[in-house]
Amino acid sequence: AYHDEVLAATSHLPHLIAFSLVDTLAGEDENLDIFRYAAGGFRDFTRIAASDPVMWHDIFLSNRDAVLRVIDHFTHDLDQLRTAIADQDSATLLRVFSRAKAAREHFSKMLSGQAYVTKNSEKQVTFRLQPGGRISGEIRVPGDKSISHRSIMLGALADGITEVKGFLEGEDSLATLQAFRDMGVTIEGPDEGFVRIHGVGINGLQAPRGPLYLGNSGTAMRLFSGLLAAQPFDSELTGDESLSKRPMGRVADPLRAMGAVIDTAEGGRPPLKIRGGHGLTGIHYDMPVASAQVKSCLLLAGLYAEGVTSVTEPAPTRDHTERMLEGFGYHVYRDIATASVTGGGRLTATAIDVPADISSAAFFLVAASIASGSDLTIRHVGMNPTRVGVINILRMMGANIEVLEERVIGGEPVADLRVRSADLKGIDIPEDQVPLAIDEFPVLFIAAVCAEGRTVLRGAEELRVKESDRIQVMADGLTVLGVETTVTPDGIVIDGGQTMAGGTVNSHGDHRIAMAFSVASLCASGSIEVTDCANVATSFPGFVELAKWTGINISAGGAE
Ligand code: S3P
Repeated sequence: AYHDEVLAATSHLPHLIAFSLVDTLAGEDENLDIFRYAAGGFRDFTRIAASDPVMWHDIFLSNRDAVLRVIDHFTHDLDQLRTAIADQDSATLLRVFSRAKAAREHFSKMLSGQAYVTKNSEKQVTFRLQPGGRISGEIRVPGDKSISHRSIMLGALADGITEVKGFLEGEDSLATLQAFRDMGVTIEGPDEGFVRIHGVGINGLQAPRGPLYLGNSGTAMRLFSGLLAAQPFDSELTGDESLSKRPMGRVADPLRAMGAVIDTAEGGRPPLKIRGGHGLTGIHYDMPVASAQVKSCLLLAGLYAEGVTSVTEPAPTRDHTERMLEGFGYHVYRDIATASVTGGGRLTATAIDVPADISSAAFFLVAASIASGSDLTIRHVGMNPTRVGVINILRMMGANIEVLEERVIGGEPVADLRVRSADLKGIDIPEDQVPLAIDEFPVLFIAAVCAEGRTVLRGAEELRVKESDRIQVMADGLTVLGVETTVTPDGIVIDGGQTMAGGTVNSHGDHRIAMAFSVASLCASGSIEVTDCANVATSFPGFVELAKWTGINISAGGAE
């Protein structure tokens, strides 16, 4: 019975459609022309209409019930498409076609034995680096990851069509994009960084058919939890092995205080099971950790909450959510360390130009600083004051970074950065810079190794709960290369000037660790191999090619 049910859909219905289509067209007056001009699509599609008529007659009659069920389903959906065409309803057409395209690609992957979303832990990518090199040229790194996530989220919830340029086609932001498609939002692209989002309005999301898989992305999971807590439907958020270990209590607890119903796995870890249909009420929340993800989660929940939701941060964190909400016409009241929204408003579609990601530029800022004879320009880099810690810290260390052509694009400051090699010196990193450079420490540790004197980092315990424990994993990698460091609970002490030898470093699937050790090769004395690098694609697709182009001696090997 199960066989007949499945085959009715996957084999019998396609045969019926092929027979029927060919018969219909053969009956048309211009049938000769139709067949003469039939293109490859028609030929591919109707190949099975040449199958044995007697056998298919028997099959349809013997599997009558299952075939009728699937014909009814198909006829209903075909009718909907007919209506969409008749009504010039382009949103429905695009939604159905993009969903079908994604499903068709899934189907090809399944046939070749891959999962729907290929888990990076199953791909083995190793970076191989030869020591030395000089960095030069003019580059643009991919779009900002934080802004890319938010552009999809707010674009989906807005009234109207939002066009995004410079969208990061990395796996993290693509996971966000796919999740919104799964909730019924029509999204065209991405096509060379261009995305068109057909907003469904603040209350227009539909229940996803299954759990939303967010890959490696902590930002997606934390921001989604705020949004989904306020929806009328239930949802479940899952992720890869690394994401499944990351703390979600930091968002679940304040959301519960707003009235949300959320279950987590042990220790507040994913998956998150969110029960829909619970009205939220605004709260004031004093964040115990300086986290833009927690702040953004609560502000997004606050769009739906009764009254005012306000969040006070212990130190400034990236404010892309606040800026972008304003860009979509939703007022965010801001007062020094506090951001507040009043629930019940609407978002209006807008155009977004995503700047290049300063967190990706950071690898090249350090690379060109430590490799002698370097001179590199990085174009269109996002210079939001809550993100420029890496430039501040490198300049304190003596880096030669010029900020050129400063401008504001779509509410975000942008500039070109020219960086030339410099003799770096170790510093005590001011604690107020930590949240402003939170993702850049792996590569800043490499700068510290190449600097003269001691660099001390404190107040950075958050690094232990990123995609990996970035303090320990960096220290372990440096040990392999013969560099001694002192790890503390909230930071590290690195004495610069130690010789960095070659060796095999495990990145623990953390994209920023993999890229940091690629940069390290510029001042290493031997060749370096970095394992478990597939996740570089989460934030920096094309890293290897770009790094090679600028002068890093890198190649990638391995298999899926
Ligand atoms: C992000 C915030 C930061 C950062 C992450 C992206 C965001 O995390 O590390 O890569 O887009 O809001 P926390 O806010 O948790 O520190």
